[in-house]
Amino acid sequence: MPRHAAVTGWGHYAPEKVLTNRDLEGMLDTSDEWIRTRTGICERRIAAHDETTSTMCAIAAQRALDKAHMAAIDLDLIICATTTPDTLMPATACLVQDSIGAANAGAFDLNTACTGFVYGLVMASQFIQSGAYDRVLVVGGETLSRFLNWQDRTTCILFGDGAGAVVLEATEDESGLLSFVLGSQGSGGPLLTIAGGGAAKPASPETVAAGDHYLYMRGNEIFKFAVRSMVQAAGEALTKAGLTQEDVRVVVPHQANVRILRATQEALGLPWESVFVNVDRYGNTSAASVGIALSECADLGMLRPGDNLLFIAFGGGLTWASAVMRWADVDAIVAAREESPNVI
Ligand code: ACO
Repeated sequence: MPRHAAVTGWGHYAPEKVLTNRDLEGMLDTSDEWIRTRTGICERRIAAHDETTSTMCAIAAQRALDKAHMAAIDLDLIICATTTPDTLMPATACLVQDSIGAANAGAFDLNTACTGFVYGLVMASQFIQSGAYDRVLVVGGETLSRFLNWQDRTTCILFGDGAGAVVLEATEDESGLLSFVLGSQGSGGPLLTIAGGGAAKPASPETVAAGDHYLYMRGNEIFKFAVRSMVQAAGEALTKAGLTQEDVRVVVPHQANVRILRATQEALGLPWESVFVNVDRYGNTSAASVGIALSECADLGMLRPGDNLLFIAFGGGLTWASAVMRWADVDAIVAAREESPNVI
């Protein structure tokens, strides 16, 4: 029997504190008009002092488990995509594992910046399709606000905090991942980096004084790379799946900038209405962004069984990722599991 990996649960969490463009006007030499027209962002969420990547991921994960009617104890694996882990060690995935009580799950972090959630979806699907595991949690979370230089108007206006999660499980239902493309170009790493605090530049008074612990980005070059890589990866993923643009019902992209999304959508010849956008409300939440977007699409009832979803993302590394997924009949899979929990 062919095994597929269907998303059967989803959830997201965004901190309560909203930081609007108007708020930023009072902190920096910038304007609501500049930010909106250049990025499409109106506001972003900022983690409270007692919130971290793992606490936000744990809430999103629990919401995804609740949606799937699944207990954390039944998870086989937790993949946490993040560039802003609570600590270098232990992995944030282990903190989430402990917090939700997933005592039978392996756990590890994945760092491909903004493509992390799509890389995680692809990886989880491989574990399930191979027969190694039946139930995998993918969670993406970021606390980017702690790594931003709030005096640098070229970066701090772009990013926000939050987390998104999905539960994938084995099914015979013809659904789940149809194709994917993952790519990287390490030579572009210096275009988008947090250079301090690692083995190459351990934290010291000098690295702190130089601001090496802050996110640094060459926005213009990233912009061009983003459109080029996402257009190419999306085209390849569709071809691999044997589909065309007309077969795509919803595009779930990494939410970095509306102009990047517009340019990508136009180059791919997809209708703008098919592209899900929430960057206006959250800014760029990096590894969380695709997870939050997917969770919101599902909550809004936009995804029907049999729908083809196209994921596209780019990010630090540099990396890119695209995947085509067929949305499952979630209610039927959950009902079948609840009827006979040990059959797969
Ligand atoms: N407010 C007002 N003016 C500003 C601001 C600001 N917040 N930021 C920059 N400016 C000024 C610049 O100083 C510059 O002024 P100058 O012409 O006098 O020199 C002018 O605005 C234009 O600056 P550009 O950088 O050319 O503006 P651009 O149109 O390229 O927009 C932006 C900048 C929004 C960053 C864009 O390049 C972009 O979105 N790039 C992609 C970034 C991105 O998505 N990064 C995330 C990567 S994903 C990940 O892995 C984390």
